[in-house]
Amino acid sequence: INRMLLDVDTGIDDALAILYALLSPEIKVEGITTGFGNTDVAQATENTLRVIQLANCGYEVPVAVGAASPIERIFHGAVPHIHGNNGIGDASLPPSIKKPIEESATDFIIRKVNENPGELILVTVGRLTNLAIALQKDPSIVTKFKKVVIMGGAVFAPGNVTPVSEANLYGDPEAASIVFESELPITIVGLDVTQRTRLTRNHLEMLSRQAPPDKREIVDFIKEATERYFAFYEFSNHFIGECAMHDPLAVLVAVNPSLVKIEAMNAVIDCGTGYTAGMIITDRRVRSIVGRAVDFCLEVDEEKAIAQMLSVFIGEGR
Ligand code: BDR
Ligand code: CA
Repeated sequence: INRMLLDVDTGIDDALAILYALLSPEIKVEGITTGFGNTDVAQATENTLRVIQLANCGYEVPVAVGAASPIERIFHGAVPHIHGNNGIGDASLPPSIKKPIEESATDFIIRKVNENPGELILVTVGRLTNLAIALQKDPSIVTKFKKVVIMGGAVFAPGNVTPVSEANLYGDPEAASIVFESELPITIVGLDVTQRTRLTRNHLEMLSRQAPPDKREIVDFIKEATERYFAFYEFSNHFIGECAMHDPLAVLVAVNPSLVKIEAMNAVIDCGTGYTAGMIITDRRVRSIVGRAVDFCLEVDEEKAIAQMLSVFIGEGR
């Protein structure tokens, strides 16, 4: 079983990543930390609690509240044109009965990893703010993760906020830079692979047909939440009836690295203020000297990834 910490900014695709992790028989989620990004941190936290309640996975999942803004910059606010006014595509979920824990996200990450050295996989699918602050507070954690899988960035694919920058790294470049400069064992699941891993309207119909009664509510939520996401991808990428599964893919890859082809390259994060803010710069020169080696996912078996995701949503393999 893969013991996992998730860091999220829930978010439509974050919600799907959380559902996947909670429903997968291969994963035990030991806690979820929240942050600003797709929406503000309070809404991201409430969304996370509601999605956990929806998943009804049979064990307790503590939620710890994290950063409300980037380390040095300003949070430019939610993105309702992508993720709806409530962050989850305006899908309605019953309010959560559970509350977040008292401990902050960074203290929670630090405590968990110190209590379980070498055991936990951290998957981040939001800004890297919580992780960067945790590293600053307790630098010793750098060697204590089993691995850290990060949804963020783009190497050869274009960016999605600027021509060269992806939202999670653009949203807090200084945090991303701290993480990249650290010796954390990081795997980057970026737009090179996530843009190719798409949920389609046909998939949703298949889910509806195949969902057993106890998974109906989950499938209805997925359909309601992704409606707006389809519209955004049609507008922004000219995808017809398809939307990118960024955050779920990071969770999938964390557990099943054979879904992707990985290449190690030296890399740094650009902390400029223009288009390149949060850009990943890889040094692909023969005598590569800038940055440190980072594992980048450059190819993905997208059909296998999506099939795996869908089967878990309808409870297969449990
Ligand atoms: C990332 O940005 C967010 O909008 C998504 O949830 C995902 O984590 C994709 O660039
Ligand atoms: Ca996200």
